[in-house]
This record gives sequence, C-alpha cells and structure tokens, in this order.
Amino acid sequence: MRSSLIAGNWKMNGSLQSAIDLVEGIKAGNPGKAQLAVCPPAVFLMKVGGMLAETEISLGAQNVCDQEAGAFTGEISASMLKECGCRYAIVGHSERRSHYLESDQLIAARFAMAVSAGLNPILCVGETLYEHEQGVTEAIVAKQIDAVLELCGIAGFAEAVIAYEPVWAIGTGLVASPDKAQAIHEFIRGKLAASDGDIAQRVQILYGGSMNPANAADLLSQPDIDGGLIGGASLKADDFLAIAQSA
Ligand code: PGA
Repeated sequence: MRSSLIAGNWKMNGSLQSAIDLVEGIKAGNPGKAQLAVCPPAVFLMKVGGMLAETEISLGAQNVCDQEAGAFTGEISASMLKECGCRYAIVGHSERRSHYLESDQLIAARFAMAVSAGLNPILCVGETLYEHEQGVTEAIVAKQIDAVLELCGIAGFAEAVIAYEPVWAIGTGLVASPDKAQAIHEFIRGKLAASDGDIAQRVQILYGGSMNPANAADLLSQPDIDGGLIGGASLKADDFLAIAQSA
C-alpha cells in the first residue's frame, strides 16, 4: 500500500514571520494520517528545517540546480538543499516551465541532480488549457516523463514522486474531476509499469491544481491519487490540515 503525501508548495509567498506562524500551526495540528511536507521559499528553508527537526513533517525545495557547483548565479545545488534538511525538491513546476522557459531536458537534468544527491524529486507534469482542449493530455504528460526516463532510466523513479498538475487548474479554482484525474494518474502509472511494475506500484502520484478542503476527499479517494501538491490552500494551516485530514 502506498502512503499518502500532502505537500504544500508555498511558492513566493509570505514573510519570515508568516512562515514561522504557518509551520507552528501545521506542527500543532498534524492529524498524523498522511505524510506531510512543506516547500517554503528557499531563503526560509534553514529556519523552517530547524523548526521541523524532531517532527514527522518533511522539508522540500521548490527547485534544484541541474549542476553540482560553480558559476551558476542564483541557483541552489542539491547538496546545499540536503544540508538545509530537505528531503524533497519540486522539479518542473508549470510556473518554471512557462515563466522561466525550463525545457523537458533541463527539468530532467534537475531531476537527475536531485536523485544523485539523495533528494526525492517531485516531478510536476501536466497539460495547458490549450492542450487540454486539443485532447492531447496523455501525449504531453508522456513526453514530460519520457525526458526523465531517457536521462535517468526507470531506476530514477525509485525514490521519486510525480505530481499531475493540469496547468489550467493551478491557482484558478478550476479542478479536474476525480474521474478524469484518476484516468491520467492511471495512465502515468501504466507508463512507468511498462518499464518496471514494482517501481510503478511504489511511486506516489499526487494531484495538484486548486485542491482544497472541499474537494480533497473525492480526489484522494481515487485509487491512483496518492496525495496532493497544494498551492494556495497550503498557506493557511487550517486548510492544509483539513486536506491532510481527508487523506
Ligand atoms: P494551487 O497550486 O493549489 O494554488 O492550484 C498548486 C501548485 O501549483 O502546485
């Protein structure tokens, strides 16, 4: 049985004080049902990591550099993230793909660097509204996963998490129906199973895109939805914990 993972992607929100308050709230109310993770802005990782020491709650970064070290201004290496106490690193979030033009190949290289440093990458995949309307969701998701398979092989997914995040559902209040999301999750697992059945059964596949306390239970009850990557609703401890409660 796969355990559930509820991960909060705080994006570029808040202040040091609001990050501290949010972590205090999450620590105090953790229902202990699902594995929890928070991904604060990089400058708050050390502080939040310190607050999470001795708890069951994991720390994650919002991105990771595709290079080990050197002249890469503004980037943060996988080993630095490990030193901050990170367990997870999000890679390939649609905001990185669209605003910063990160390609499938760059994202695969970031993924590979996370794996080699012993971080668990959370690989985000998903189609845009246009692609959704064209009915090419499976082809898009397959292409995004193939780039990682080509670089890392199926073994790269042994400790990885995948987040299916339809771009049209992120921050919009629109949410994929549980049936439709389940179908894509099943497709993703089937795709991995074509290379390795055991790894496919083990990989946690999260749903992301306007998940909130009202819609979480229906999504999380689907057999191939193993948790959520939560944006907006992860910024309020009560909402994040309510989602964790329904996992
Ligand atoms: P949202 O963001 O929950 O605000 O839609 C999800 C995400 O971008 O990971």
